[in-house]
Amino acid sequence: MAPQDALSDALSADMAAVNALIRARMASEHAPRIPEVTAHLVEAGGKRLRPLLTLAAARMLGYGGQDHVKLAATVEFIHTATLLHDDVVDESQRRRGRPTANLLWDNKSSVLVGDYLFARSFQLMVETGSLRVLDILANASATIAEGEVLQLTAAQDLKTDEAIYLQVIRGKTAALFAAATEVGGVIAGADERHVTALRDYGDALGIAFQIVDDMLDYGGSATVIGKNTGDDFRERKLTLPLIKAVARATAEERSFWTRVIEKGDQQEGDLAQAMAILARHDAISACRLDALGWAAKAKAAVNSLPEHPLRDILSRLADFVVSRVA
Ligand code: IPE
Ligand code: IPE
Ligand code: MG
Ligand code: MG
Repeated sequence: MAPQDALSDALSADMAAVNALIRARMASEHAPRIPEVTAHLVEAGGKRLRPLLTLAAARMLGYGGQDHVKLAATVEFIHTATLLHDDVVDESQRRRGRPTANLLWDNKSSVLVGDYLFARSFQLMVETGSLRVLDILANASATIAEGEVLQLTAAQDLKTDEAIYLQVIRGKTAALFAAATEVGGVIAGADERHVTALRDYGDALGIAFQIVDDMLDYGGSATVIGKNTGDDFRERKLTLPLIKAVARATAEERSFWTRVIEKGDQQEGDLAQAMAILARHDAISACRLDALGWAAKAKAAVNSLPEHPLRDILSRLADFVVSRVA
């Protein structure tokens, strides 16, 4: 069984409680547009990876209460809010196999409903009464926004290197994975070294996850991933496959990258041409190797935790995110 399904199975009762809580809190009595937009996105599913991480972290460190459900729902609310905003920023048209909210409604609705979900997430985390948890999730929210803004200024710039890329994805993606696992350990009252290991696991897993997401943008199946491929190229983002290809570019390829990425003069066939250049330099395989390196870091961190069946699933999950196709 895929580790993600094994996690869902092992945590099915907890996850049912998380989904019920998400449904109860995504509504609004006063503005009907809110439940319309949230239901569109939430009912489409999504992998629910981040809440599963929070639940798993809490349970494997021996937590017996119910506040982990609130934290898991908080994390998924933050994630959903960032997706609404991200699809506006990226001008994306598909998400979770459906047209995006910005396409079906408009940018204004996506931004405002995203803000609403952020605020709802803070209400939920306050209910746990833990200032430490609040600190972790508030920091993560700020870091995600920083990552997205850094990406904005790094886009269209062929000088963007792997160090900047790492900073971007650590912020926009890994920060929430790391917070998701960390708060699970904190709510469980785990030892500090275990909390640190959980955080390190989430950070490395999130980095591997985003590298693969960026690989899938150049060759995944839109039907399987539920979003359009080629979005990053169109948005002129310097993701890892591109950064690697630019570093290995011939003079002729360099002028191609300057035209399509820096000048933004993109024509029919340019995406295919970009993918051919990536293939010529084995850029995707090089990205996979990097992702495997991060998966190994994630496994080392999680394997330092006390033995537990959930620990083994989390360890397998690290390899799985590198081989994932959706
Ligand atoms: C999408 O995350 C945003 C990224 C960090 C790439 P997921 O791929 O986890 O999205 P859902 O929740 O499963 O739709
Ligand atoms: C994902 O950004 C990170 C956040 C949503 C904050 P991307 O733009 O890379 O992810 P997709 O491809 O839209 O899911
Ligand atoms: Mg996007
Ligand atoms: Mg984006």
